[in-house]
Amino acid sequence: MGDDKGQLLKVTIDGTELSVPPGTTILQAAERVGVVVPRYCYHPGLSAPALCRMCLVEVEAAPKPLPSCVQQVQDGMVVRTSTPDARKARRAVIEFLLVNHPLDCPICDAAGQCELQDYAFETGQLRTRNIEPKVVLGRDKVTAEIVYFADRCILCTRCVRFMDEIAEDAVLQVIQRGHEGYIDTMTDEMFEHPFSMNIVDVCPVGALVNEDFLFKARSWDLDHTASICPGCSQGCNISIGTKENQILRAKPRPNAEVNSYWMCDHGRKAVVSWGAGARLEVPMVREEGRLVPVEWPRALDALVEALAAGPGAARAIVSAGASNESLFVVRKLMDAAGFEGGFFRVPTGPEQVLKGFPRLALRSERVPNARGAELLRFERADDIYARVQGHGGALFVLDESLTGAPDGFGQDASLLVYIGTRLDDTARRRADVVLPATTFAEMDGSFTNLEGRVQRFAQAVKAPGMARPAWLTGSAALSRLGAGAAFRSAAEAFAAMAADVEAYRGLGYESLGLHGAPLAGAPTGAGAKS
Ligand code: SF4
Ligand code: SF4
Ligand code: FES
Repeated sequence: MGDDKGQLLKVTIDGTELSVPPGTTILQAAERVGVVVPRYCYHPGLSAPALCRMCLVEVEAAPKPLPSCVQQVQDGMVVRTSTPDARKARRAVIEFLLVNHPLDCPICDAAGQCELQDYAFETGQLRTRNIEPKVVLGRDKVTAEIVYFADRCILCTRCVRFMDEIAEDAVLQVIQRGHEGYIDTMTDEMFEHPFSMNIVDVCPVGALVNEDFLFKARSWDLDHTASICPGCSQGCNISIGTKENQILRAKPRPNAEVNSYWMCDHGRKAVVSWGAGARLEVPMVREEGRLVPVEWPRALDALVEALAAGPGAARAIVSAGASNESLFVVRKLMDAAGFEGGFFRVPTGPEQVLKGFPRLALRSERVPNARGAELLRFERADDIYARVQGHGGALFVLDESLTGAPDGFGQDASLLVYIGTRLDDTARRRADVVLPATTFAEMDGSFTNLEGRVQRFAQAVKAPGMARPAWLTGSAALSRLGAGAAFRSAAEAFAAMAADVEAYRGLGYESLGLHGAPLAGAPTGAGAKS
């Protein structure tokens, strides 16, 4: 009824009273007071079919335990999640699931992050009463990269619902019934979908695994770092999994404003391969025609001396994969010589929308920070080399490949400063000062996505050799030029940018937090699909 809209309902969960809006389920209300009710088929981004019965709780005056993932709170409800009866009901569910589940935790990729393992342990499920041999269903590939271990599947249908409701491409289904049930494609062929790997993330056990990650690490050996995907201008929130300074995988980090619970397959691969291969690890300066490796102070001295000598107005080509902070500091460095123009290119590919959450798409702009580069007065250009060709003053290159540059590129520049992660032949032939830089995963920083949302990422791995964030190198040079104190952190560089650049005014690392914030005037979003 219209009058009741907005009225809060009182509920007591395990002795704690709280008020929730109408429509809140018991499971959601419990989470608000820190009570996690075990669940298998429920996922916050999908519909709730209430088929596993793992989330049963006792409700005062109800004749039997109720599934908390679908039962909505009613005013005055008193719920108990851990009574002997509720625990007994959950133990029975686990006992049934383990009748045919193989005991292969020691070799299962999901061990340590498996909800079946966790709850079996929690409920003290030590032995089975089953004396029959277990049903063996085998394994199969459902996509070129995802293997399905049917014996481990608990038929929760999260993967089926992801493909049906979020991908809107209902290629998966449950075949057979009961202990013979398994998941497969409609046609028995493997399927392809740009967001397919989310089915691995939603699987609560080790039934769906990414072949790329298979047997590479135990989950407890991984470190996890909050980051932002650099694969396109969407800016999906991710968590980077690392082991022994290697990036092994990327998983989505929930953000209702950007990517809900999902990310695309292209992004996962981009994160793992970013920064792979031979890297530029030492600073170099040109002496008697040759690039010579030097320590950082000598490299900075050479840069500062060259800038102080008045090389003429500065132009640049920069990467739109560089962070806001690095782009800002490089622009400041250019200002010291006289900013004449900076250019960046945007590699593109087909846009692929996630139909069930259309706010998310693998964007056609396959760089993370084109918007940031524009706000910092760099200009989009189709042919970045042509825009600086023949320039006679200072020329800066920030982490952009010179592999496709025409012959003679940079030969007219009075000073060529190359700040980057890789040294290609053109940079080796022409640069006067070479400064090794870090990738996004090797430093703290921020990107501005296509909607104008500014989002922070944190350092996930150590930088190779002597590589440093470009903002750190640039600000050390600026301070030697007498143009202000050197920044000690990315947060300080961001604060200086927010004070200097109108679009970022009012933002800071603290207010951005882990989920970012929109620039003034940028849209804020639709919530996650539930
Ligand atoms: S494969 Fe995983 S997500 Fe799919 S039904 Fe089986 S257990 Fe659930
Ligand atoms: S949509 Fe873009 S930002 Fe999101 S995961 Fe894919 S490539 Fe990365
Ligand atoms: S989580 Fe509630 S029935 Fe499966």
